[in-house]
Amino acid sequence: MDKSEDKTSAEEELETLEDLDAGGGDEEPRDALPVRYTALFEECLFPLLLINAKFRIIYANPRCQKLFTDFSCLEGNQFFDVFGRSLGVEALREIRETVLDGKNGFSWKGYSMLKSRELETLRSRVFIFPLADNPGPSPEYFEVVFDDVTEENKRLLRNVFMSLLEASRLKDNDTGHHISRVSRYSERLARELYDKKIYENIDADFIDDISFLASMHDVGKIGTPDDILNKEGPLSKWEWKVMREHTKNGAYILSTYPNPMAKEIALSHHEKWDGTGYPFQLIGDMIPLPARIVSVADVYDALRMERSYKPALNHEATVKQMAGEGGTHFDPFLIEVFKSIAGNFEEIYESNKDAGTKNPRN
Ligand SMILES: [Fe+2]
Ligand SMILES: [Fe+2]
Repeated sequence: MDKSEDKTSAEEELETLEDLDAGGGDEEPRDALPVRYTALFEECLFPLLLINAKFRIIYANPRCQKLFTDFSCLEGNQFFDVFGRSLGVEALREIRETVLDGKNGFSWKGYSMLKSRELETLRSRVFIFPLADNPGPSPEYFEVVFDDVTEENKRLLRNVFMSLLEASRLKDNDTGHHISRVSRYSERLARELYDKKIYENIDADFIDDISFLASMHDVGKIGTPDDILNKEGPLSKWEWKVMREHTKNGAYILSTYPNPMAKEIALSHHEKWDGTGYPFQLIGDMIPLPARIVSVADVYDALRMERSYKPALNHEATVKQMAGEGGTHFDPFLIEVFKSIAGNFEEIYESNKDAGTKNPRN
């Protein structure tokens, strides 16, 4: 098979664009910026780049350098070397047609998503248009303006789901600070796994997502009848059957959340490594990793808390019990990692205790 057939269409598009810049690397980046624009751009509120018609970045204003400081160096580089993979193949084609063929009056708008293992995804709106007073029929320079919408997007999305969480908390009298503690333990465990570099999919986004979504693990209890949820003492067989439905209800409620991690946590946080959990008796790593992490966090906290049907355990007794359940209830590898950072779990519990929590009897 021809080797070029292995290339993705995005890679081919990038190569086409890079050819345009062949021999263009000897430009003096800052000298090319018309002097009258310097002061204007330096103080501009928006992150802004200036590129030439060969897609070479000839200038980046201070806000732009700050926005992308952790991702790459800008001035002197090829625009598509820096932003190509964050734009997507369709956008690359459109930008080429914009700059070279004058489509849409030499203007383009779209989105970029810059991602790395170490940093959370940076989402920006991107606008490309010719510099105001280009001489000649084709513009020589283009402004690229970015609008960082990372936090705005995240806040809007999470606010909607926080409302659901608040509604479920009104019903569930057992939560207290349980929800926020489970989030903190889950984040701590995920960060340790990130440091160990065992799982490829644990990156900065994973840690940020699990620190929010772990709190949603029991959101499905919004559909559980109050008399079962608030019953003093043990539940009957039938009541347990109803109670277990909270996993499926949670997955249904979170089905519109864009990251599948939300559904995975709600649906599978009561599955057990040996296949004896619920709702689907998944075995081993068939259980999604985020759910396995939240399971460790949720059970640690549940054991530490006093409930109407059981006393609280102290930290040492809790760790001992959970350590004995690696490979049965819990992912055995996660339990080893949990044991190595169990002291942090205790700190999180102690510094986020519910008011009126008594010292455990054992
Ligand atoms: Fe649950
Ligand atoms: Fe819980």
